[in-house]
Amino acid sequence: MHGLIVTSKIRNYELQFVHSINEILSETSNPNTITFVDQTVAHLYPDLNKDGFVFVECNEDAKTVDGSKVIVDALIDKKANARTKLVVVGGGVLQDLIGYCASIYCRGIEYTLVPTTLLAQADSCVGGKTSINHGGRKNILGTFYPPSKILIDTNFTRTLAPQDFISGLGEIYKFHILQNKIKQFDPTKSVLEMVYDGLKYKIDILSRDEFDKGERRFLNFGHTFGHALEATSGHNIPHGIAVILGCMVSTLISAELGYAVVDLEEILSIGNDLIRRSNVQLEKEWFEFFNLQPVIKSDKKSTGNLTMVLMNNGQPVLADVDRLDMIQPILNRVYGGVYESV
Ligand SMILES: NC(=O)c1ccc[n+]([C@@H]2O[C@H](COP(=O)([O-])OP(=O)(O)OC[C@H]3O[C@@H](n4cnc5c(N)ncnc54)[C@H](O)[C@@H]3O)[C@@H](O)[C@H]2O)c1
Ligand SMILES: [Zn+2]
Repeated sequence: MHGLIVTSKIRNYELQFVHSINEILSETSNPNTITFVDQTVAHLYPDLNKDGFVFVECNEDAKTVDGSKVIVDALIDKKANARTKLVVVGGGVLQDLIGYCASIYCRGIEYTLVPTTLLAQADSCVGGKTSINHGGRKNILGTFYPPSKILIDTNFTRTLAPQDFISGLGEIYKFHILQNKIKQFDPTKSVLEMVYDGLKYKIDILSRDEFDKGERRFLNFGHTFGHALEATSGHNIPHGIAVILGCMVSTLISAELGYAVVDLEEILSIGNDLIRRSNVQLEKEWFEFFNLQPVIKSDKKSTGNLTMVLMNNGQPVLADVDRLDMIQPILNRVYGGVYESV
């Protein structure tokens, strides 16, 4: 499979599919390079457990002001300068954190991204968004700062825990709903095919709207409630699984408002099936609108109303939702649907 070029107003960057860890190691051996590796990945892949690499424990708590201080201190300790290049080997958390630090260190240093989760390979590695969480608000600090190169080895996804693999499928499920082709969602496809399809779709949108001013905002489908559920669950729901739940909530809100929703039953049954297979145990109290609402109100994409992406006639639309009375029954239905006997 050939590579892809992502065009960007900041810098164009290439994305290559690679097939061995040696191709990644050769990138790390360039002069004046500092390599950051997700600690779990380093344990699973001894070739990446090398002296001189910096290992980072990756979870949402690493994506913080304190977490970024640890990274910047490591860069200073290793005498990084404006010409230093970083290599980042890990999932979306490490990408968001190191990308953020790379964008501010010496007013910006280059980095190569080696995404190791399905979510990072199929979705987050392109688009240049970097971010950390702060003050209970997800991704509230961040920059647009794309990598200079992306190397994808889909073999990494073989070692993902089931819930992390399904979390990646969550963003792919969202892409299918947005393209009005949920019936073609097939998680038994090869990972390479799913990653390639996801990237092609996102890169096409980026070519028209890189900075979230228009069409790219549709990619936030499922994220208003997804981010809030991540928060109310204390990050016990992985990002992509929260997105699946958020997509189901948004679909039901669309239907309740009288929009023409295509394939509603498939959207719900595929979503429920993914969540059951992930083995993430949901708790009813995470689905209380009373608890979700303050998080949603503080969401950085919010304008004060409940502004969210909905689906109408197989097309995404941005809508202001003011009928908040319908939300709790919908949340109950989504929670209940996951545990209904099948
Ligand atoms: N920048 C963007 O455009 C963008 C888009 C979507 C999501 N995100 C962010 O990405 C994050 C989620 O990313 P993620 O799902 O990759 O999570 P993650 O980076 O936390 O990885 C999930 C888990 O898998 C482990 N892991 C990583 N690679 C592995 C491998 N090959 N084998 C076994 N375990 C491995 C990690 O240590 C972690 O425990 C969220 O913080 C979300 O906000 C960013
Ligand atoms: Zn997402």
